Amino acid sequence: MNRHKAKLLWFTGLSGSGKSTLAHALEEELHQRGCHTYVFDGDNVRHGLCRDLGFSIEDRTENIRRIGEMAKLFVDAGVISLTAFISPIREDRERARGLFPHGDFIEVYVKCSLEKCESRDVKGLYQKARAGEIPEFTGISSPYEAPLKPEITVDTEIDTLEDCVAQILSVLEERGVIPNYVVGD
Ligand code: ADX
Repeated sequence: MNRHKAKLLWFTGLSGSGKSTLAHALEEELHQRGCHTYVFDGDNVRHGLCRDLGFSIEDRTENIRRIGEMAKLFVDAGVISLTAFISPIREDRERARGLFPHGDFIEVYVKCSLEKCESRDVKGLYQKARAGEIPEFTGISSPYEAPLKPEITVDTEIDTLEDCVAQILSVLEERGVIPNYVVGD
């Protein structure tokens, strides 16, 4: 009905790497092409469904478990789902991947060095983490395990937002997730 396939795009990367910005920019492009999408990120998940969770490794594992299960329902409903969470633990991401048929879980590694994320410090959290005001902060006092074989890697330190969006769109076209045409064709 939608004339596109339903997949999950799982964005992972450090805080400040650009996951959420990228997911929303991609969503906008997909909308232009008539696709039905939904972006999950801290704004709509950590303030609601996962409000009871903090940032210990155990709580992050539960955060990722819930997000994986929820995204699975959205994909079942035919929606191109985009999740933008640090999801620092490889095993947690692999468990989420395991919920999906092969090929439906597309891991997008949003690559950006800690130095760059820290220099951006969009929310001022790195400064607080360095000052010891935020415990277990990813990259500072809590681990980040980069994906070993992500389906897509975008480097937000080198490429512009538009370039990163274009790279992901072309993979989606190659894989036949979205048709290779623009609205109006
Ligand atoms: S995850 O590790 O469980 O995947 P999630 O993506 O939901 O994390 O939330 C990360 C966001 O929460 C960060 O971008 C940052 O704004 C905020 N945050 C607050 N405390 C922490 C912390 N200790 N470590 C990382 N991010 C934190």
